Amino acid sequence: MTLDGGFVTVAWADGAELACYGLWLAESCAGLGLDPVTRESTLDPADLPHPDALVAADVGDDGRLVLRWRLVGEAGPDTVTEVHPGWLRHVADGRHQPGSALPDPERWTAASLGGEPPSLDGAAILDDDRTLLAWLDHLIRYGLGRLRNTPATDAFLPELIRRIGPIRATNFGELFTVRARLADTGGEGADSTAYTGLRLGQHTDLPTRETPPGFQFLHCLENTVAGGASRMTDGLTVVDELRRRYPADHEALTTLRWSFLNRAVDEEHRWAGPIIDHASDGDPLPLTLRAFYPVRAFPLMDPTDQPRAYAALRRFSEVAHDERFQLSSPFRPGDLVGFDNRRILHGRDAYQPGAGSRVLQGCYLDHDDLYSRFRVLTRRVKS
Ligand SMILES: [Fe+2]
Repeated sequence: MTLDGGFVTVAWADGAELACYGLWLAESCAGLGLDPVTRESTLDPADLPHPDALVAADVGDDGRLVLRWRLVGEAGPDTVTEVHPGWLRHVADGRHQPGSALPDPERWTAASLGGEPPSLDGAAILDDDRTLLAWLDHLIRYGLGRLRNTPATDAFLPELIRRIGPIRATNFGELFTVRARLADTGGEGADSTAYTGLRLGQHTDLPTRETPPGFQFLHCLENTVAGGASRMTDGLTVVDELRRRYPADHEALTTLRWSFLNRAVDEEHRWAGPIIDHASDGDPLPLTLRAFYPVRAFPLMDPTDQPRAYAALRRFSEVAHDERFQLSSPFRPGDLVGFDNRRILHGRDAYQPGAGSRVLQGCYLDHDDLYSRFRVLTRRVKS
């Protein structure tokens, strides 16, 4: 352990090391910044000690880091604080990172998943935290997880999702029902392609929003129609394929911006961004695919860029519909499919409305709430 240039460098016997800046330690130790009850820092940055205030650092008998501070304007002896070594090791191991307690994303193709979405029996999931945790693991790892044999009732989906977190409401409500509305409303017509029997190409929902919903859930309540199979494609695989085989298209898809617009009598949602929206340049995650052609409105780019932007859109769609990458599975009553709406492209085959019934109930949930529930369940299951 050394103190040099305002940094305390802590070293462990196994070779792990952590360089801790003094002012970060000041925020992080009881007796200076850390409130022992809330475990949060109470130091406004304007009240931080002078960077030279840390005058000594030693390892105590029990392995604690003992810090001696000479605070400006305070008469009397130095202030001594302690930091628990286990907490410093937690940071040295990277376990403080947002994604550290979550499974790493695994890219998939139709073949790598054996042609079926990762599936679990969901009959008892409301009373079984281990099954819930396993399902959340699938949803984070693959961006896709299916429950089978759940009760095909209206009440089941909201009850299950509220066990994870608050449902993310949109202008389509907290819960939406996907069925061919033309037949149901006596011909009033549908206000979205989703509410018809038309084929839906691979897409993500609600790119009209600054933050599109993180996860989407579709619960099959009835299905007696022919066709209408669900199609899923891993957007991470699509992006990798584009980057590898079609770099010029990948560049256009990640840099050229479009506006997205959803306009109705009482609603008008707009946002703008590239089709492949990474959090930062070169960072593969988190990824937001803004891929829903019915609401893609205007190219926000120089006219000279528009031909290559459209060529790249065509390529994106071709790759997204490549049979090697696409899972196709029918909906059975009681199937509940969840997927990462910003990573996974979803679509469906056409079906004939009126020649039977096909009723899906759906809702959304933000990433944050699902990740939070995963971390808490992991703690509980381990303890
Ligand atoms: Fe959709």
